[in-house]
Amino acid sequence: MTVQDAVSVQALAARLGPHFTLGVASAAFQIEGSLAAGGRGPSGWDAFAEKPGSIMHGHSPAIACDHYNRTPEDVELMRALGIDSYRFSLSWPRIQPDGTGAFNGEGLDFYDRLIDQLLAAGISPMATLYHWDTPLPLERRGGWMNRTTAERFAEYCAAAGRRFGDRVAQWVTLNEPVSVTLNGYALGVHAPGRTLLFDALPSVHHQLLGHGLAVQALRAAGVKGAVGVANLHSPVRPATRKFTDRLLARVFDLMMNRIYADPILLGHYPKPPLVARPWFRSLGKIADADLRNIHQPLDFYGLNYYCPVKVATGPGTDHSPVGTTDAMSRLHFHTAAFPEYGTTGFGWPVAPEHLGILLRELKDRYGEALPPLYITESGASFPEPDHVSGPIADAERISYLAAHLGHALAATAPGGIAADVELLGYYVWTLMDNFEWAAGYSQRFGLVHVDFKTLERTPKDSYYWYQALSRARRRGQATEPR
Ligand code: BGC
Repeated sequence: MTVQDAVSVQALAARLGPHFTLGVASAAFQIEGSLAAGGRGPSGWDAFAEKPGSIMHGHSPAIACDHYNRTPEDVELMRALGIDSYRFSLSWPRIQPDGTGAFNGEGLDFYDRLIDQLLAAGISPMATLYHWDTPLPLERRGGWMNRTTAERFAEYCAAAGRRFGDRVAQWVTLNEPVSVTLNGYALGVHAPGRTLLFDALPSVHHQLLGHGLAVQALRAAGVKGAVGVANLHSPVRPATRKFTDRLLARVFDLMMNRIYADPILLGHYPKPPLVARPWFRSLGKIADADLRNIHQPLDFYGLNYYCPVKVATGPGTDHSPVGTTDAMSRLHFHTAAFPEYGTTGFGWPVAPEHLGILLRELKDRYGEALPPLYITESGASFPEPDHVSGPIADAERISYLAAHLGHALAATAPGGIAADVELLGYYVWTLMDNFEWAAGYSQRFGLVHVDFKTLERTPKDSYYWYQALSRARRRGQATEPR
C-alpha cells in the first residue's frame, strides 16, 4: 500500500459517521459449491450452467469457492478484515429443495452455523433471500414467469424468518430483479436462458409480488431485523441529443430502474412514453390488490451500483455489459460505450461520480418514499492471474472502491448534492473471487484472491486497504495495514 492510499484511508475514514456500516457482500451460488451435498436440490442455474456454451470457457459452478466446506476460514477472513456486516444469500434450493413442501434440515443447519459464526466474530448478518437460484422444479414450471412462484417464495421466506429471525439484522428479499428479467428471461444470457424480450415482463411483476408477499411473511414470522430489497440502478444516458436516442433512453430507464422501484416505493408502475406502450403490453392489467401487496413499507432500500448505461438507437452490440445474444439484434436500441471513462475488466465504465448523481436522482424521484439506504453492492473486476505467489497489487480496485465510497459520502454529506439521502452503509462486492455467472471464473471481483485449482485464499492489497479503513474509523487513525 502506498503513502497516497494510506492518506486516502485517513481522509475517507474521517468522513464515516460512527454508525456507518462497512460490509462485504456475496451470493450462495457464486461461492458455496457442494451443489448436490447436504440435501440441496438443483437450481435453474445448475441446469443452465450445464448447457454447452452458456458459461465462458465451460467453467462449472460445482465447487466455486467451496465455501460450504470452508465457512470458518471465510468468517475468519472477514473477522480479520474488521467489517461490521456480511451480506450473504440463503440458497432457496438448499433450504427447500423442491421450492415447495418439505424443508431441508441440513440446509437450515448450514445457515444456522454461518449466522452463529458471524455473530461470534462480531459481524452482523444481512441475509438475502433470493440471489437468482430458483429451485429447478419451479423453474421448470416457468419460474418467475409463473405467478405461483411468488407465493412459493413467500412460504420459503416465512420459514427462513422463523428459523433465523432472532439473529439476522437485515433481510433483503430479492437481489436485482432487473438482472433476472433482463438477462435471464429477456436476453437469455443468464438462467433460465429464455429470450422473450419484452414478453418477459410478467417476470417483473411476479418477482415484485414475491417481494411484497415476502416482506409481509417475514414480518408475520416476527423477525427482529430490518426488511428491505436490493435493486440494481444504472443512471441511463442517451447517446446523443437526438429525439429517438432520448426517447429510447427514457424507455430503457423505465425497464432498467423505474419498473422495479416505482411499484415498490410508490405503489404503481411507471407510464411508458406513448409510442413505446405496445412493448409493455405483456405486463397486462395489474390488479390494485397486487400493487398494495408490492407497496410495503420498507426499513431500508438496498442500492447496487456498478456503472451508468448509454442508450443508442437501432439494434447493435457495440457495447454490452453482459455479453451479446442474437435476441439483442431484434431490439430497436442498444447500449453504447462511454469513451470518456476508463473501464473495468468486464469493460464497464468506471464512473464514480454517477453514484452521487444517482443518489440525487433517486431522492428527486421518490422523495419521502425513499427509505434510508445501504449501498448493498459496489465493486469491480480487473484482470488478475489465476495463480499467485506473494502480494497482489490491485491498485485499480482500491481506487475504484475509494472513489465510489468517496462520491457516495460526499453526495450525502451536509451541503452535498444528495444531502437529504440517509446513507447507512456500503458493502463491497465482493469478499472473494467467485463464480461470476455466465463469465465463469474469468472476472475477479474479490478483496481476496481465490486460486480455483487449490482453493487457496490470498488477501489482495484491497483487502488490507479496506481493513485499514475499518481500523482507522474505529480508532480514529489509520493503522499499519499489515
Ligand atoms: C450481482 C452479483 C454479480 C455482480 C457482478 C451484481 O449484479 O448481484 O451477483 O456478481 O453484479 O456482475
